[in-house]
Amino acid sequence: MARKQKIAIYPGSFDPPTLGHLDVVRRAAALFDRLVVGVLDNPSKTPLLDSAARVELMVAEVGDLGLDNVEVRAFDGLTIAFASSAGASYIVRGVRSLGDLADETSMAETNRLAAGGGLETVLLPARAELSFIQGRLVREIARGGGKLDRLVSKRVAAAIRR
Ligand code: PNS
Repeated sequence: MARKQKIAIYPGSFDPPTLGHLDVVRRAAALFDRLVVGVLDNPSKTPLLDSAARVELMVAEVGDLGLDNVEVRAFDGLTIAFASSAGASYIVRGVRSLGDLADETSMAETNRLAAGGGLETVLLPARAELSFIQGRLVREIARGGGKLDRLVSKRVAAAIRR
């Protein structure tokens, strides 16, 4: 009997996509048959980059990784609904710190129960050298016109400068 494909989503704001996010994409793509990166279009937040720009950047960044089992989609609403529309049984999230772990554990269990039990979250510890990167701080540096290299790719830094 054919093995069921293991499909995961990697949801996030990705405002902006950072080197930490790309590392999670690369590692998750090696764990699952298919990975669907979901860029949240959250109307209640004022983002640094609009949803279309974040999706476009993520597509380009993922393209650079040369992975044929990863796709990028925008989504709004609930992550569990996005998982269902992608046919995914797994959610991937990166964890940088104990603070993240507390939030992610709560989110993972809430999503598992809200989805009726069949949706597992797989947490990937951030690589030590990338674990300091936080979207909120990257946005502050970006808004203040600071240097973004080592935090985001050259492409993302250029998009933010524009
Ligand atoms: O990159 P972020 O901002 O840490 O990602 C957070 C995200 C998008 C995963 C979370 O806010 C989310 O899932 N939002 C969609 C709405 C939802 O499903 N909320 C319930 C989460 S338990």
